[in-house]
Amino acid sequence: MTIRFLLNGETVELQGVAPTRTLLDWLREARGLTGTKEGCNEGDCGACTVMVRDATGARALNACILFLPQLHGKAVRTVEGLAGPDGQLHPVQQAMVDHHGNQCGFCTPGFVMSMAVAHLNGDRDHATTLAGNLCRCTGYVPILRAAEAAAAAPVPDWLAADGAFAAGGGDPIRPASADDLARAYAAQPEATLVAGATDVGLWVTKGLRDLDPVIFLAGCDDLKGVEETAEAIRIGAMTDMNTVRTALAPHFVSYAEMIRRYASTQVRAAATIGGNIANGSPIGDNPPALIALGASLHLRKGDARRVMPIEAFFLDYGKQDRAPGEFVEAVSIPRQPDRLKCYKLSKRFDQDISAVCGCFNITVEDGLVTAARIAFGGMAGIPKRARHVESALLGQPWEAGTIRMAGAGFDADFAPLSDMRASAAYRLETARAMLGRYFAEDRGDTGTVLEVSA
Ligand SMILES: Cc1cc2nc3c(=O)[nH]c(=O)nc-3n(C[C@H](O)[C@H](O)[C@H](O)COP(=O)(O)OP(=O)(O)OC[C@H]3O[C@@H](n4cnc5c(N)ncnc54)[C@H](O)[C@@H]3O)c2cc1C
Ligand code: FES
Ligand code: FES
Repeated sequence: MTIRFLLNGETVELQGVAPTRTLLDWLREARGLTGTKEGCNEGDCGACTVMVRDATGARALNACILFLPQLHGKAVRTVEGLAGPDGQLHPVQQAMVDHHGNQCGFCTPGFVMSMAVAHLNGDRDHATTLAGNLCRCTGYVPILRAAEAAAAAPVPDWLAADGAFAAGGGDPIRPASADDLARAYAAQPEATLVAGATDVGLWVTKGLRDLDPVIFLAGCDDLKGVEETAEAIRIGAMTDMNTVRTALAPHFVSYAEMIRRYASTQVRAAATIGGNIANGSPIGDNPPALIALGASLHLRKGDARRVMPIEAFFLDYGKQDRAPGEFVEAVSIPRQPDRLKCYKLSKRFDQDISAVCGCFNITVEDGLVTAARIAFGGMAGIPKRARHVESALLGQPWEAGTIRMAGAGFDADFAPLSDMRASAAYRLETARAMLGRYFAEDRGDTGTVLEVSA
C-alpha cells in the first residue's frame, strides 16, 4: 500500500507503514514535527489538531486518532507549516500574540490550527469551533478574542497550494467506491472497517489492539453526502457529523442543535453517521433521534441489499443485526413535519457523551395525540423506544394530566444502569422530566435550561 499526501506543501510517499500508525505518532517520531502535541491521545483535548484539506474543503482533525491511510490524497498542514515562507505569522498566530492567548503554550498549536481552519472556512462561531480545544492555564476569553480579531484578515496565499491534490489509486485496503468495498469486505469479512476512526482509533491508542486486517472507507466517496427527495432524506454512511448537522438543520432544528454538542468540531469532522450506528453503542446520539424519526437503515453485503427500521438493527448490548461482510450503506429519514425534540443530558455542555439522550416525536391533531415515537439512549443496553409511554399517550388529550399519567410508563419501558454518568433513579426521573419539557415547549414555554442567570 502506497500512501501519498502533502505535508506542509511537500509531497510525502509512504510504503510499508502499519495501517494503524497514527498521524500524530508518525509526525512526532518519524518526522520530528513535535509542534503537534500529545495530550489525551483519545480525541478529547485538541492538542494534536492539524489542518486536513481535500476537494471537499478544509477540516480540523485530531491527529492522535487519525490513521495514515486516511490521509491518502489529502493535504496536511501542521503548526510548523502555518507561518509563511519568510516566517510571517498566520493572522491567527499574530492575533494570539496580540491578545495574550497563551501561557505555557502546550495547547497553543492545537488552538491555532483549529482557528486557522475556521479562518479559512469563514466560520465565526468561535465558541463552538474551539470547544474541542482544552486550555488549562490561559483561560478562553483571550483566545476567543484572538479568533475574533483575526477573522477579517485575508487567508494567506501560502496556504493556497493545499487546495488541490490528487493521489489516485484504490486497493482492497482502501476501496474507492461502495462496489469495491462490497467486494473487498465479502472477500475478508473478518476485517475491521475503519470509517472516521473516532471509535476505532481508541481501540488502538488506548486498547492497544492489533486490528489487522483493516479496510478503510475514506476513499468511498459515493458513501458520502446527503440526498433529498420528495419522500426522504438519505444520508450516506460515510457522511461526517458536521455535514449531517448542516444538512439536517433546515429540517430538524433540534436534532441539528443536539449534534452541535456531539463531541467537538474535530471529532465531528471525522466521525461518520454510519460508524455511530454500526458501533451499536447504547449512548450514541444519532440512533435515538433516527428511531424517533422512523428512519430506515440500508445494509449491503456483496450485491445484496436490505432495508430495515433502524430500531430493528439493535438486538442486544454489543449485538447488531449485521452479517459478516455486511456494511451500512445509508440511513434514510422519511419526510415529515418537524415535531422532533432531542434532549441530550451530559455532565458537561460541550464534548461530552450523553448520560441520557431522549428524542421525542409526537403529533397532536385537534387536541389529541395521534402519533408518538419516543426513543432513548443511555436507558438500556441498546438505543430503545419507550413503547409503554407511547401507547399511554396515543389517543389521549394533549394536556398535563396525560403527561403525568404517561410518564409512569418509563418504569415499564426501562431498567437503566447506575454508572459513573448517572444513577438509575436519576435517569428515570430525567426521562419523565424530558417528556414534561417537550409538552411545556410545545405549549410555548420557550425558556431554555442552557442559560443560568443570577
Ligand atoms: C472525544 C470523543 C467524543 C465523542 N463524543 C460523542 C458524542 O458526543 N456522541 C456520540 O454519539 N458519539 C461520540 N463519540 C463516539 C464517536 O464519535 C462515534 O461513535 C462516531 O460516530 C463513530 O464513527 P466513525 O466514523 O468514527 O467510526 P469508526 O470509529 O471508524 O468505526 C466505529 C465502528 O463502526 C464500524 N463501522 C464504521 N462504518 C461502518 C459501516 N459503514 N458499516 C459497518 N460498520 C461500520 C467500525 O468497524 C467500528 O466497529 C465520541 C468520540 C470521541 C473520540
Ligand atoms: S492528543 Fe488530545 S485530542 Fe489528540
Ligand atoms: S496555555 Fe497552557 S494549556 Fe493552554
